[in-house]
Amino acid sequence: MKQNSDALPKIEALRRQLEEYNYQYYVLDAPTVPDSVYDTLFLQLQQLEQAYPQYLSANSPTQRVGGKAIKSFDSIQHRIPMLSIDNVFDAELLQGFARRILERLQLSDISYSCEPKLDGLAVSLHYEAGQLVRAGTRGDGITGEDITHNVRAISEIPLVLRTTKPPQSLEIRGEAYMSKAVFNQLNESARQKGQKAFANARNAAAGSLRQLDPRIMKERQLNFFPYAIAFISDDVALALSNSHYERLRLLKQWGFKVNSDSEQVMGIQACVQYYEHLLARRTALPYDSDGVVIKVDDIVLQTQLGMTARAPRWAVAYKFPAEEVTTQLLDIEWQVGRTGTLTPVARLEPVFVGGATVSNATLHNFDEIARKDIRIGGTVIVRRAGDVIPEIVAAVLPQRTQNTRVASLPTHCPVCHSLVYKVAGEVAIRCMAGLHCPAQRKEAIVHYVSRKAMDIEGLGDKLITQLVMQNILQSPADIYHLDLNTLANLDRMGVKSAENIVQAINASKKTTFDKFLYALGIREVGETTAKTLAQQFGSLDALYGASIEALMDLNDIGPVVAAQVHVFFSQEHNKEIIQAILAAGVHWPSVQQKTLQPLQGQTFVLTGTLETLSREEAKARLEALGAKVSSSVSKKTHGVIVGEAPGSKLDKAQELGVPILDEKEFLVLLNTKT
Ligand code: IVH
Repeated sequence: MKQNSDALPKIEALRRQLEEYNYQYYVLDAPTVPDSVYDTLFLQLQQLEQAYPQYLSANSPTQRVGGKAIKSFDSIQHRIPMLSIDNVFDAELLQGFARRILERLQLSDISYSCEPKLDGLAVSLHYEAGQLVRAGTRGDGITGEDITHNVRAISEIPLVLRTTKPPQSLEIRGEAYMSKAVFNQLNESARQKGQKAFANARNAAAGSLRQLDPRIMKERQLNFFPYAIAFISDDVALALSNSHYERLRLLKQWGFKVNSDSEQVMGIQACVQYYEHLLARRTALPYDSDGVVIKVDDIVLQTQLGMTARAPRWAVAYKFPAEEVTTQLLDIEWQVGRTGTLTPVARLEPVFVGGATVSNATLHNFDEIARKDIRIGGTVIVRRAGDVIPEIVAAVLPQRTQNTRVASLPTHCPVCHSLVYKVAGEVAIRCMAGLHCPAQRKEAIVHYVSRKAMDIEGLGDKLITQLVMQNILQSPADIYHLDLNTLANLDRMGVKSAENIVQAINASKKTTFDKFLYALGIREVGETTAKTLAQQFGSLDALYGASIEALMDLNDIGPVVAAQVHVFFSQEHNKEIIQAILAAGVHWPSVQQKTLQPLQGQTFVLTGTLETLSREEAKARLEALGAKVSSSVSKKTHGVIVGEAPGSKLDKAQELGVPILDEKEFLVLLNTKT
């Protein structure tokens, strides 16, 4: 073992510095150094710890990622039981809770701490002399599981408290949870890989904390909010506030991320208001919340109130309306989207969930129906969270009766009846009829008129459906031939609304190139890609001629997008529709093209020795103009530059008819392009 008296202080300083950066980044959301600085210091620490293994510590920042997998979970005993909270479901019950408390305390009014009730898992953290020593799950409230190895991977939990005078012993309780963003990403990538998706963020968080290997946990990025100091030794020379809310602020100083949506309020009426505000924001919150926890704020009063066998008397959970309920699946229908993808839609026995009545829900794709073993006629769990489309989470298997049937994969498009295909490597099945399929035609037109595209106000979903069904609209170009008469004769239309639509159509003709490109509904081309294409190519003619390679030379455009764009613009019938739209008067100001490099997208090959330039110089000059230099000649090569004593590349160029440039011509090319 190496000895070096300098190593330990250096290691400790690096650890403190890295934890501080970690705190700034994860807890304060305000990093003060770029990632590269963090990475460099991290590497230094890792190297020092490798060289001096005697100084390794389980609470080193390096151990957040590098922890070893365990074979099974040990159990841990909670010295103070982890209780649950009583629930109330309306304001009246909540007022009852407050009345009972005030009576017991013989007080006229008190203040409360109002906090979002997070839908995650309760976790208990033990710190000794400021060091995290153990973390456990709630379990049955008395015995939990030791999950210290996984908890170390949660960046929002300090491994060492940020204070020079930590209490000898401290137990923090709080909720570990997965943010909606991480959950959606995780499920999206699971779906793409054809793996089982998690039913909700809570299950995903629970699944992650129960991993034996902490590396998986690190990939899943859990968060943590503390909600109670369960125990603190009284050795701290610290005037500990009697306010629960203030104590949580202290935890913030010690390195925890504290939920900034919590509030300290006076009286129960303010709690009701807090509840209503949070409920209104529920969808926009970055985490799942199933209600509000209302706590008597004064710790002394809390102690006075004490607890029943099950739950404390000083806290109550005021629950939001359920986001998950069960109902019967009546049928599965297939909906055809803009790009021909067939999506299964569940028709449900209507149920009230998440504050609204739901009778349809998405099932994502056929693989998912099979994986979840969802059957028509069976009972299913429906989830509706805010504005998101309701979805079927799972089948309720024990309630399955004889009268269920398995859904079958459609062989034909339900709308245009052409054969459907399963695209290799994708889970989706697709109707390939394009604009010949009325469903896709309708969706293409709905997209074309939408706000971020051509922005034609008043031409809504229902009107477009009628116009497509009556064959009046066969492509977006037909929009410009709609007249007052046709429109006024549609269902539920008056002359006035028809006039407004005609006006909106005319007004929309003045647009921008990127909006027009977005409106075309080219697969894989969203708003951002449309902007890039508009800026880099400037005109339709330039796009018509763009090769896949030229497209791929643009920033942010990969092979999949490039191929879709190329295919779209090489199809005659797309060009015809575009021509018809332009003929109808759609126009845009010419685009300030970002200067493309003069040889962008072109490939050259060098052979033989040049007199005035070395091979490296020639290559660098070409690359400076945006060209690529390749070592082999193909049909796609834009030119072969030939010096003294050329090799077989010259023969190849002649054979393929690739342009050949001698040194003089090459220098002319370089000079005219600079
Ligand atoms: S306080 C003794 N505050 O809700 C009271 N709990 O049934 C201790 N929960 O599983 C709990 N957010 O994990 C409290 N802001 C919050 C909470 C919260 C979520 C969970 C807790 C427990 C359940 C209570």
